[in-house]
Amino acid sequence: MSAFEATENFAQNLDAQDSLKHYREKFFIPKQSNGEDVLYFTGNSLGLQPKQTRQFIEQELKDWETLGVEGHFQAKSPWMPYHEFVAEQLANIVGAKPLEVVAMNTLTVNLHLLMVSFYRPTKARNKIVIEAGAFPSDQYAVQSQIKFHGFDPKNSLIELIPRAGETLLRNEDVEQTIVENGDGIALILLGGVNYYTGQKFDFRRIVEIGHKVGAVVGFDLAHAAGNVELKLHDWNADFAAWCSYKYLNAGPGGIAGVFVHERHAENFDLPRFAGWWGHDKETRFLMGNNFVPMRGAEGWQLSNPPIFQLAALKASLDVFEEAGMENLFEKSGKLTSYLEFLLKEIRDERISVITPSNPDERGCQLSIRVKNSDKSLFKAISDKGVVADWREPDVIRVAPVPLYNSFTDVYKFAETLKTCLS
Ligand SMILES: Cc1ncc(COP(=O)(O)O)c(C=O)c1O
Repeated sequence: MSAFEATENFAQNLDAQDSLKHYREKFFIPKQSNGEDVLYFTGNSLGLQPKQTRQFIEQELKDWETLGVEGHFQAKSPWMPYHEFVAEQLANIVGAKPLEVVAMNTLTVNLHLLMVSFYRPTKARNKIVIEAGAFPSDQYAVQSQIKFHGFDPKNSLIELIPRAGETLLRNEDVEQTIVENGDGIALILLGGVNYYTGQKFDFRRIVEIGHKVGAVVGFDLAHAAGNVELKLHDWNADFAAWCSYKYLNAGPGGIAGVFVHERHAENFDLPRFAGWWGHDKETRFLMGNNFVPMRGAEGWQLSNPPIFQLAALKASLDVFEEAGMENLFEKSGKLTSYLEFLLKEIRDERISVITPSNPDERGCQLSIRVKNSDKSLFKAISDKGVVADWREPDVIRVAPVPLYNSFTDVYKFAETLKTCLS
């Protein structure tokens, strides 16, 4: 028997017991035309704005206004080391040491910069393993890297494809592909959580097997950072990159993040594209012509960072720190299980959840497959105040986010879906 009930009263009781419920008040929730909050389920696409973000950015505007260039040293949070102020919090989000992370650029840019260092194909070993269903930008990035090195994606790209008639990748098939192609694989680059299906991979195992065959292992954590528990350092991943506008609520196009394992922190022989912000900060302003990289992830920076973007990221990371990752993961598991329960209760064969039912194999997103790719259902729920998204060919993605979604939101979503189906 399930511990859940499909009644509004039950959902309200879950909210009443939720120790994180007041965090919703720290975010702006968009409104419907009738003045009610929308049912916002797209924190996996663009996270909502923390109310304190404005104040963080205004502080920087004020410091710029009153200090001009001196803000680099005299701003309340001096701009010169500003990126260092988020390192510890970012490290906490991805399970890393501060030395191993840095906020810089945007996601696809960072994937390229990291591949410059970590995709070093040779005649014998030049293949990249990626999901066939990876986010298109990742596909474009790896294919262009393969071509850049003079190889052909037709031969050098290994795509992980679910078995015929299946939607999810099986761990054993991923492993088998890696082992069978072991000698030829230069790089394994997987999404931590797949953007379409919501499937979370077994990071530790993939790193273990990848390293065993002599490959480098990196992750695109766009859908994982701030959503699922990550232990990049302990898992021994070589590198990772993520954006901060989804679960990390740093705003559209927000400054992204990278992880480079401590093992590579002082490997200055790794080829890399260089810029002055990656240069040893002790001697950066001596303006010498010889590049001396900083230890750790900071050594991959190119430019001085966008302070307004960093301020927005800091505003959000402070909320995460206060709420506590453990608490967030606990609530997330419960919210998503409740959503899954309610969707099953609808008992309509036109919809099915393709995301793994095992909570260890997913984050908060559930992907609802709609029979016959019928987009009219998505349009109907959107008209009733649901903000979800449609991903071609046939999926509505729904992500209840523990910082600002409530159990009542989840209940109302399921009721809306039920009404629209009938
Ligand atoms: C998994 C994944 N990879 C890459 C990207 C591209 O991100 P960006 O435009 O920030 O480079 C996205 C964007 O949503 C994504 O979801």
